[in-house]
Amino acid sequence: MKIELIQLKELGDERGFLVALEVNKDIPFSIKRVYYMHGLSSVTPRGFHAHRDLRQVAICITGNCKFVMDDGISRNEYTLSNSSTGILIDKMIWHEMHDFSDDCVLMVVASDVYDESDYIRNYKQFAKMVSDDS
Ligand code: TYD
Repeated sequence: MKIELIQLKELGDERGFLVALEVNKDIPFSIKRVYYMHGLSSVTPRGFHAHRDLRQVAICITGNCKFVMDDGISRNEYTLSNSSTGILIDKMIWHEMHDFSDDCVLMVVASDVYDESDYIRNYKQFAKMVSDDS
């Protein structure tokens, strides 16, 4: 399984840093929604779902956290620890986020608006969909 880590350009000078997310340059889809999570806990993981069609890129704006990414065949863990790395959460990737630092702010850009019917929240169902598809 190959998960894409997107290296974002830090435009920095004596005034500080600026990071831009540009569609088709940094983000491989049109952005229809942005959301962010904060006040996260080191002991309470999140995620535990996949999406049928939604594509997302997550960026740890401050702090750090870990992502478990699973395509139904293998799973790998990634650490996001800087604001210039995005992780592509493609459609049909089961993802779990955990070990959030106290200061973690996790921003996500998404290819579509929120739609609960796009979620697969049951891992067995997800794994079956992957194996039925292969
Ligand atoms: P959820 O996607 O389950 O969070 P996580 O996977 O990070 O644990 O979303 C948590 C709640 O917020 C759930 O009730 C759905 C709601 N929600 C929205 O209303 N809009 C959104 O854009 C998102 C991502 C979630």
